[in-house]
Parts: sequence; C-alpha cells; structure tokens
Amino acid sequence: MKNDILKTIISDSEIEQICKRLGAQISKDYEGKKPIVIGLLKGCLPFMSDLVKHISGYITIDYMSVSSYDGMASTGAITIKKDVESIIEGKDIIIVDDIIDTGVTLLNIVEYFKEKKANSIKTCCLLDKPEGRKVAIEADYIGTTIPKEFVVGYGLDFNGYYRNLPFIGVLKKEVYE
Ligand code: IMP
Ligand code: MG
Repeated sequence: MKNDILKTIISDSEIEQICKRLGAQISKDYEGKKPIVIGLLKGCLPFMSDLVKHISGYITIDYMSVSSYDGMASTGAITIKKDVESIIEGKDIIIVDDIIDTGVTLLNIVEYFKEKKANSIKTCCLLDKPEGRKVAIEADYIGTTIPKEFVVGYGLDFNGYYRNLPFIGVLKKEVYE
C-alpha cells in the first residue's frame, strides 16, 4: 500500500505535534466545561483518537456518520446515516473531522446542531483546503492548511482505502487514473 504513495506531505511526528497543540488549546478553551466531542465517521477516526488523549478536562465522546453531496443549491446537503446518541440541547459541542474542503459538510452539521439547540458549537479539522471552499465557513481549530490536492492517510481515504496510513500523503497518478 505504501508503494502507492508519491510523497508524504505531513509526517506522523508532525501529526503528533498538531494533536498536542490542538488538545492543549481545547483544554484551555473548555476549562470548567464538559463538552461533547463528536467525530464524523469514518475519516475522523485516527485524528479523534489521538486528539482526545491531549484534552485534559472532562469530555464525552460521540460519533455520527453523514454523506454529503452537491445538490442543485450551492450549499449542497447532507444525509445522516448514523446520528449521535447524546442529548445535544444545552451542551457545548466540538465537531471533529479529518478535513474541511468545500465546507458543505461542516456548514450543514453546524446548522443541524443549532436546530438541536446546542449551547455552543465549535469545529476542529486536522486539515484545511481553503482553495476548495464553496460555502462560507471556517473551522475553529485547524491542524494545518494544505493546497488543493487530493490527499490520503490518517483517516482520509481513496475508495475506502489508505485510512490506516500513519501519515498524510499524495497518491501516485497511476493509482487513481
Ligand atoms: P467538504 O468540506 O464538505 O467538501 O467535505 C469534507 C469531506 O470530503 C471530508 O470529510 C473527506 O471525507 C472528503 N475529502 C475532501 N478532500 C479530501 C482529500 O483530499 N482526500 C480524501 N478525502 C477528502
Ligand atoms: Mg469524511
């Protein structure tokens, strides 16, 4: 599988540093609070698991699974395939995903939790591809910014594969062509 990778763009030790930094920031920002950290399956998995180990306060964990598609409207839409189990009303929530690209997924999820009357909603993404943005949303916590390039590894997939790579890389052209 590693032979399919053209180049590494973020190493495992860089990812570790990012998780430490974001975990420390979240710990500070949520001091005295008990947020629900909600991961978006499946891409969030390695990132969320490493991130929460660096959050020092009381948190609970939940997951949801959504699929997004660009509909006729520029904002697109999402379908919820698995909803959270937690009661959201009045709670502080932190949504965790692997990457923000068009922003359609996060925008719709933030709206969804606003309707469920969360007390506060923040978003945390390992990667940000600002050039891909189609809707007006920025993540509150960002690991690092990358150019508009398709990447895999550490949760990010191509056709379901490569999520288990411990680093983030770019695929060789012959793999996806
Ligand atoms: P968006 O911000 O709604 O466009 O979508 C974010 C989702 O698109 C992420 O959760 C990923 O599943 C997927 N995605 C976007 N860019 C990439 C990439 O470079 N590699 C793998 N998945 C990606
Ligand atoms: Mg995803």
